[in-house]
Amino acid sequence: MKAEHLEQARNEISARRNHARTVNDERFQEIHTRIPEIAEINRQLFRTSRSVMDIIRSGENVQERIETLRKQNQQAQLLVRRLLTANGYPENYLDVTYTCPKCSDTGYYQGAFCSCLTELAAKYAARELNRSAQINLCSFDTFDLAYYRGHKTESGADCLRPMEVIYHFCKEYAAHFTTESPSILMYGNTGLGKTHLSLSIASAVLEKGYSVLYDSVINFLRQVENEHFGRDQSGSDTLSLLLSCDLLILDDLGTEFDTPFYQSIIYNIINTRMNRCLPTIISTNMDFNGISHKYDERITSRIFATYVNHHFVGYDVRILRAQQKSMRKL
Ligand SMILES: Nc1ncnc2c1ncn2[C@@H]1O[C@H](COP(=O)(O)OP(=O)(O)OP(=O)(O)O)[C@@H](O)[C@H]1O
Ligand SMILES: [Mg+2]
Ligand SMILES: [Zn+2]
Repeated sequence: MKAEHLEQARNEISARRNHARTVNDERFQEIHTRIPEIAEINRQLFRTSRSVMDIIRSGENVQERIETLRKQNQQAQLLVRRLLTANGYPENYLDVTYTCPKCSDTGYYQGAFCSCLTELAAKYAARELNRSAQINLCSFDTFDLAYYRGHKTESGADCLRPMEVIYHFCKEYAAHFTTESPSILMYGNTGLGKTHLSLSIASAVLEKGYSVLYDSVINFLRQVENEHFGRDQSGSDTLSLLLSCDLLILDDLGTEFDTPFYQSIIYNIINTRMNRCLPTIISTNMDFNGISHKYDERITSRIFATYVNHHFVGYDVRILRAQQKSMRKL
């Protein structure tokens, strides 16, 4: 889920809310012309709601007087319902019908995002993910273990076995994902399938309806920086999304510039998500030494101690595929 998907979801939910209210206004107008008694009752109800303010302001016998009004109100509403059914309408004809009764189409419920908002944002994200051809190719089904066969690691071990383990781990991880799933560090040389497998996890987890944010670390940091320094006026709050989404995928850690601001954001993301027990997947070309060299010990010790570490091995699949292509042409 990207900030723009959340924005799209917010817009759609606010359109739903407006629609629900327009329909409700039209119904009021219709009923007021057809059943004038109801129009009169509603005028009285409106006056009542104004007198509540007066009562509160006056400060005299507030509770008692409000209770009397509340009872009158209930009776008036009961009468409206009776009049509606007597005229052949359903009794709840004048209630606003929201798509999501839980949050009345506001997108917020008990101080947090309502599930209707996150589900909708996840759908937009999935739609975009699936539109992009390159990402469409990134599924567990298109991950071919044959690329690792016959290649040896620097220490002479076969590459196939460890990659099989990683592949099955990721597949199981996606299939059984919950917000309590562990965080993962995928590290290794270029072209070994780190992005491919993290995107495969992203698609599968999105499909389950979880909120997933995926992008390169550089893009995330730039976005957070632009919002922080007021260059982005869209009102998006990418940082809070990064801190709270169900699964965060930070691709290509280590390719960003070394600035104290970036370091502090990365630390904040990793640390906050860890404290909230929310899973994060990091992919990087750096090994343990590279990561320890580039980042503060507070970051590295956390990553190495609590993430499930997967060392990708093999020969650059981009090159292998290019070679296969040119072989086919011969
Ligand atoms: N095992 C595989 N089976 C099929 N395609 C693969 C496999 N591994 C990688 N690829 C493809 O090769 C290309 C490079 O892989 P990917 O981007 O996942 O590598 P990476 O490890 O993320 O590399 P980098 O470190 O440069 O980001 C992609 O097009 C990907 O779909
Ligand atoms: Mg990659
Ligand atoms: Zn809702």
